[in-house]
Amino acid sequence: MLLVGESGSRQRLSTEESPVTVSATLAANEAIAARRAAGLEVLALGFGEAGIPVHPLLRQRLAQAAGEIAYGPVAGIDAAREAAAGYWTRRGLPTEAGHVLLGPGSKPILFALLHAVGGDVVLPAPAWVSYAAQSQLLGREPIRVPVPVGEGGVPDAEAMDAAVRAARAAGRDPRVVVVTLPDNPTGRLASERSVKALCETARELDLLIVADEIYRDLVFEEGPFPSPAAWAPERTVTTTSLSKNYALGGWRVGAARFPDSPMGTRLLESVRGTASELWSSTPMPMQHAAAYAWGDPPELVERVAAARRLHGSVARAVAGTFASVGCTVPAPQGGFYVWPDFAPLRGALAERWGVATSADLARVLLDEFGVVVLPGSAFGDDPASLTLRVAVTGIYGVSDSERLAALVAPEPAAMPWIAESLEGLRDKLAALVAAP
Ligand SMILES: Cc1ncc(COP(=O)(O)O)c(C=O)c1O
Repeated sequence: MLLVGESGSRQRLSTEESPVTVSATLAANEAIAARRAAGLEVLALGFGEAGIPVHPLLRQRLAQAAGEIAYGPVAGIDAAREAAAGYWTRRGLPTEAGHVLLGPGSKPILFALLHAVGGDVVLPAPAWVSYAAQSQLLGREPIRVPVPVGEGGVPDAEAMDAAVRAARAAGRDPRVVVVTLPDNPTGRLASERSVKALCETARELDLLIVADEIYRDLVFEEGPFPSPAAWAPERTVTTTSLSKNYALGGWRVGAARFPDSPMGTRLLESVRGTASELWSSTPMPMQHAAAYAWGDPPELVERVAAARRLHGSVARAVAGTFASVGCTVPAPQGGFYVWPDFAPLRGALAERWGVATSADLARVLLDEFGVVVLPGSAFGDDPASLTLRVAVTGIYGVSDSERLAALVAPEPAAMPWIAESLEGLRDKLAALVAAP
């Protein structure tokens, strides 16, 4: 039996056939606790929390709605569905409230969607951990397809065509492809060209597209956003939530936008049925807060803009730090992740530390240097590659006042405590890759 944790990490329960194995993520958690208990320093770059205090106006909205204790409608209250429809409409995807469904975070909505669609799931390699874990919970190993060179979040269309046809010829039943724009883990935003190709191929193969756009408001450079729903409106479900742009992961509220088509309506109904058995309704106070946030009031738009600047500044600085010791690092474009590849340093790492896989590399960084990162293999990357997923928010500050100061700073990466963490990271990486 597999247990799937919040971070998508897995732990195999002890059975007669299978010994207990603890995932790298859980092992890292335990090692962090042990290091801290021993008074050792830890540089926590492992977890994807946005790390910014709640905006006072959102706190106020939530408090005002605390008396809303009834179960609400399964798909969400009208005010929240209308606000989410407005959110997407203002972003170039005309939406009616009737095509929106809310849930306690986008993660359970994604699971309900994969459950409703059935069949096999096609994923980019690498991809966010929980898509594969959810597919496995539904009893299906995902079909992984590499991303176009230098990109992230969408599978290469030609490779997807070949993989889906081969899977069908082998008796499997791929029905849905999940994409992430911008991407966790690579920090890249797929190009319009790749998204268009994906849409055309999905149409030819009759695949549903699930576009996870949870980091959409955190793209660093202004420009057109390549949403699959623009080119394949009849077959794209788009998801979002307040977890990343407003840093409200613990509030648990998300939404999905379904196609305006008979298929879209059937799918929404099916997901609504699953939702009614899984979460009944989204917590009412959260829905009121979300209705306010999805209205894009100027104070909150300004907050998200500040968050975008903060993530962009620190992600670029962290990418630069890894590049300075010889890693290949794709320039981060959105969200708060960096995806360094230590391939150019493979020889030195093998000789000095016996590193052969990304899991080895993550372990050495933790054990020898107190740096917590996740191995690329946790995201479905080839275990022998030397990629790491680095979440940059862990260095924004140790208190709300530090994090708020970073949020409004003209050059957040230059704030003393962030600059100090960057310097510490540089020293540790330099020691890691130094010749034996
Ligand atoms: C790509 C991606 N999708 C979805 C989620 C889940 O978000 P939510 O808090 O809305 O369930 C995360 C959070 O880590 C994520 O990184």
